[in-house]
Amino acid sequence: MRAAVVKVKKFGGPEAVEVLEVPLPEPGPLEVRIKVAGAALNPADTVLRTGVFSPFEDFEYIGLGFDAAGTVDAVGPGVLLKVGTPVIAFDAPLLRPTKAQAEYLVTDLNSIALAPEGMALTLAATIPLNAITASQALDRLPLRPRDTLLVTGAAGAVGGYAVELARTRGVRIVTQGRPEDEEFLRGRASWFVSSDEELSEAVRRFVPEGVDGVLDAAALGAPALAAVRDGGIFSSVRADVLPAPERGIAVRHTPAGPEPTRLSYLSALAEVGVLTPRVAQIYPLSQAAEAYAQFARGGRRGRIVLVP
Ligand SMILES: NC(=O)c1ccc[n+]([C@@H]2O[C@H](COP(=O)([O-])OP(=O)(O)OC[C@H]3O[C@@H](n4cnc5c(N)ncnc54)[C@H](OP(=O)(O)O)[C@@H]3O)[C@@H](O)[C@H]2O)c1
Repeated sequence: MRAAVVKVKKFGGPEAVEVLEVPLPEPGPLEVRIKVAGAALNPADTVLRTGVFSPFEDFEYIGLGFDAAGTVDAVGPGVLLKVGTPVIAFDAPLLRPTKAQAEYLVTDLNSIALAPEGMALTLAATIPLNAITASQALDRLPLRPRDTLLVTGAAGAVGGYAVELARTRGVRIVTQGRPEDEEFLRGRASWFVSSDEELSEAVRRFVPEGVDGVLDAAALGAPALAAVRDGGIFSSVRADVLPAPERGIAVRHTPAGPEPTRLSYLSALAEVGVLTPRVAQIYPLSQAAEAYAQFARGGRRGRIVLVP
């Protein structure tokens, strides 16, 4: 099969991404093989591509891709799913010879859920990593209905799902985003502040004492913490951008992990329109390096998806 990989001796920019012919992986016990219909590109792929994770002694190349949607193609011992079942997958392990950006993905039962019925698999491919991250990061913020939440980077993938999930909890939301995202974000939450404004000051126009919690999807760190009230909570999605706690504010980090029940729930929310996955552009897998170059240019809303 063909797979997007980076050779361990060639880590670097988008040009380091190659599509190689590699052995077809076989599912072991409690594993499935998925015929991939779409695999999204995420910031985590860029990090993998540059080679910051190590050691790599056991690898000639490593695979890319955390998100996939496709159909079950083969099952290992102990799996009752039927071949042909549409599924989504969050392929979390960092270092593997091939991952989701490939013709086939082998992953375990804990990492998959039924795909949203009636949704294109290329669209469904953008759900797993970012919806799981948003959902788990929100759980770090035990907010009650009517409490106030700031979501930074609210027009992005994690931020977008976080806003939609927070709405289901009856929380009052301040979204923060680029000026050009204002119209989109005003349609999703009552309050908007622009990245051009001083964050804490702008948030206090709506919530004078500061918000009860922040989900910092733009990885701003200290400026986002400053918008939280004394004794509130700061939920981060980046371990490298954790502000020092102050004023009794709890600082929590969420490394997203697979959770099949949660993934099923998120898939169901997408099926009924509570979560709205977004695709910016679709590339054939053969043009993976071009897709990574486009991703690195930034500025898009919605994910880039590779189609084998
Ligand atoms: N913990 C985990 O396991 C986990 C999982 C998934 C993601 N993450 C992390 O979560 C973060 C968000 O990921 P994502 O996939 O949602 O990225 P994304 O889709 O690119 O969204 C990030 C959003 O934040 C905006 N932004 C950046 N700086 C900003 C600023 N100063 N003010 C306002 N908005 C700003 C971006 O706008 P522009 O595009 O205009 O810059 C974009 O809309 C990344 O750092 C990613 O590494 C962590």
